[in-house]
Amino acid sequence: MEKYIIKGGAELKGEVTIGGAKNAALGILAASIMTDEDVLVENIPDVNDINVMLEAIEHIGAVVERIGKHTVRINGSTINSCEVDDDFMRRIRASYYFIGSLLGKYKNAKVPLPGGCAIGARPIDQHIKGFEALGASISIRGGYLSTSADRLHCAHIYFDVVTVGATINVMMAACMAEGQTIIENAAREPHIVDVANFLNSMGARIKGAGTDTIRITGVRSLHGTQYAIIPDQIEAGTFMCMAAACRGDILIKNVIPKHLESITAKLLEMGNIVYEYDEAVRVIGAPKQRHTDVKTLPYPGFPTDMQPQITVALALAEGASIVTESVFENRFKYVEELIRMGADIRVERNVAVVDGIERFSGASISAPDLRAGAALVIAALQAEGTSVIDGIGYIRRGYENFDKKIAALGGNIENA
Ligand code: EPZ
Repeated sequence: MEKYIIKGGAELKGEVTIGGAKNAALGILAASIMTDEDVLVENIPDVNDINVMLEAIEHIGAVVERIGKHTVRINGSTINSCEVDDDFMRRIRASYYFIGSLLGKYKNAKVPLPGGCAIGARPIDQHIKGFEALGASISIRGGYLSTSADRLHCAHIYFDVVTVGATINVMMAACMAEGQTIIENAAREPHIVDVANFLNSMGARIKGAGTDTIRITGVRSLHGTQYAIIPDQIEAGTFMCMAAACRGDILIKNVIPKHLESITAKLLEMGNIVYEYDEAVRVIGAPKQRHTDVKTLPYPGFPTDMQPQITVALALAEGASIVTESVFENRFKYVEELIRMGADIRVERNVAVVDGIERFSGASISAPDLRAGAALVIAALQAEGTSVIDGIGYIRRGYENFDKKIAALGGNIENA
């Protein structure tokens, strides 16, 4: 199994360029098959989850032409199956976006049901509620969800929880339903807006993405487009927390500072310096940092995908911080690994009480999931001594060249 070997304590200084947003790209690529014309998607990150999504698109018969590392041309006119293989769902949960895109375009889809995952149970009841409201019938058999409709019609849908996945999925199907669909209590994440902008560039009529009420007027067909994905908010936030935790000085380029505000606010509260530019932020980690409290919430709240990284930074700040995870039920698994590195953290259900220490000590640790894996890398970069991190396949699912980017900043990291 591949590992990162990290010698902690190197000064982190310099520039890093952020790639395209993985979670926007997953929705956009699934939506790209909703037309029979060519779709050119730029700024896709070259990470494992995206490459699996592209394989899944090819597998149902669409043409996928990789034009460069970060650009792909897709043509959905040759799709010959509305069934997604179970193997893809095992590899990426976002395979469920094919329910929305295939149902919208072909009024028919058969997609494996996702199971639980490392961070929690992750039901899809709200997706199902939305599709049924649009007139689709749904049956679940043999681990697959089959859905079809003679025609999709508009609906007024109120989500019981704020969910990124259901908002994107139902928005895609509603693009090709008859009449005006209204989604209330919609998620407002930047990637929702990006998927909506992408669909609009294909001729969809979506208004209000980025607010909690999205209005979608159905159209008969969508056309080809050329579209560049927004920068990844979470990759950027990860390097921001790295600069803070390691007392580094990192200029993080190709970002939308507005998307980073909740992270910037917490780092400032801790005493760090954050400069915002038009398309960059610079974080200078203060030698002494203060405790603060963090609660994860849907956007514009503090992202759950940044919870492990900020916890690592807080574990090195003076005093006691309280971190409350309110989106997923099982997102503190990595704390056991941090404790092996000397952290003083107690977790009770969804709350972690984090008492700051001066420095982690290097250890052999294991990444339990994607964001926790990135957080453990940050801890290892700050630690005294050497750490060996396994489970880095998780990190590769969402971070492109993570080790190379860190090495370019001066970090002592080897991929063995
Ligand atoms: C997306 O997952 C992201 N994944 C996750 O990123 C991210 O952590 C999450 O949103 C929250 O921001 C992708 O975009 C591919 P949700 P998603 O539906 O859509 C509950 C990463 O590290 N819920 O917003 O699956 C659910 O259990 C990953 O990149 C229902 O109850 O998340 C959770 O508590 C991991 N019923 C909450 O809503 C439903 O039908 C939010 O989940 C759907 C969700």
